[in-house]
Amino acid sequence: MSVDESMKAYYAARAPYYDEVYEKPERREDIAFLRDWLPATFAGRNVLEVACGTGYWTQWIAPATAAMTATDATAEPLALARGRPGVQAVRFELADAYDLPESLGRFDAAYAGLWFSHVPVGRRREFLESLHRRLAPGARVVFLDNSEVQCRELPIAARDAEANTYQLRRLKDGSLHRVLKNFPGRAELEAAVAPFGVRAGHRELQNFWLFSYDAAPRP
Ligand SMILES: C[S@@+](CC[C@H](N)C(=O)[O-])C[C@H]1O[C@@H](n2cnc3c(N)ncnc32)[C@H](O)[C@@H]1O
Repeated sequence: MSVDESMKAYYAARAPYYDEVYEKPERREDIAFLRDWLPATFAGRNVLEVACGTGYWTQWIAPATAAMTATDATAEPLALARGRPGVQAVRFELADAYDLPESLGRFDAAYAGLWFSHVPVGRRREFLESLHRRLAPGARVVFLDNSEVQCRELPIAARDAEANTYQLRRLKDGSLHRVLKNFPGRAELEAAVAPFGVRAGHRELQNFWLFSYDAAPRP
């Protein structure tokens, strides 16, 4: 199975209790901040969300937006996202982040939570090209992800030749999964988006990092 296929299988199995990650007491302060910051950032925009999972962030962002399309490549979490309160106006679509279809439309903002860390180093450009094909010049892009604090609970178990790192994660059914999870720092993020965006900003929270930029005019 490819890294991407095994990741999707892992998140399909984990979907029913995925939201427990947002109930950890040490994350409470960050989440309270993000529940205000994200909707304020996307207020009045037409937002494309990539890898929305169970729609935890969709539910807070959507009410502030002019319109929102939330996508994920796995049906199980997407079904839970559709059932959340407050997301009736959201368009949910099954879509691969590396091949976001033209039928989704064009957006002036994009959000991906806890996704960029799962993109292999060698596929970052492919993901960003796919995303930016759907964005208008000047679109606001925000990625939220886990900082290395997460490694206290889930240490890095392996590293490959491309510098991707892997964690071994056990699901409640006892199955063990090798999950690609990277922890890029500010300079690495800036280098990755340099061909696509301007005005990059980076912010460290206690448990997460936030990275944002504006889509550059396309050549
Ligand atoms: C860590 S979860 C993040 C969910 C949600 N954004 C959040 O912050 O709670 C990663 C998500 O990526 C999705 N995923 C895996 N491979 C994908 C792909 N190629 N394209 C789009 N989504 C993918 C999984 O189904 C899963 O829902």
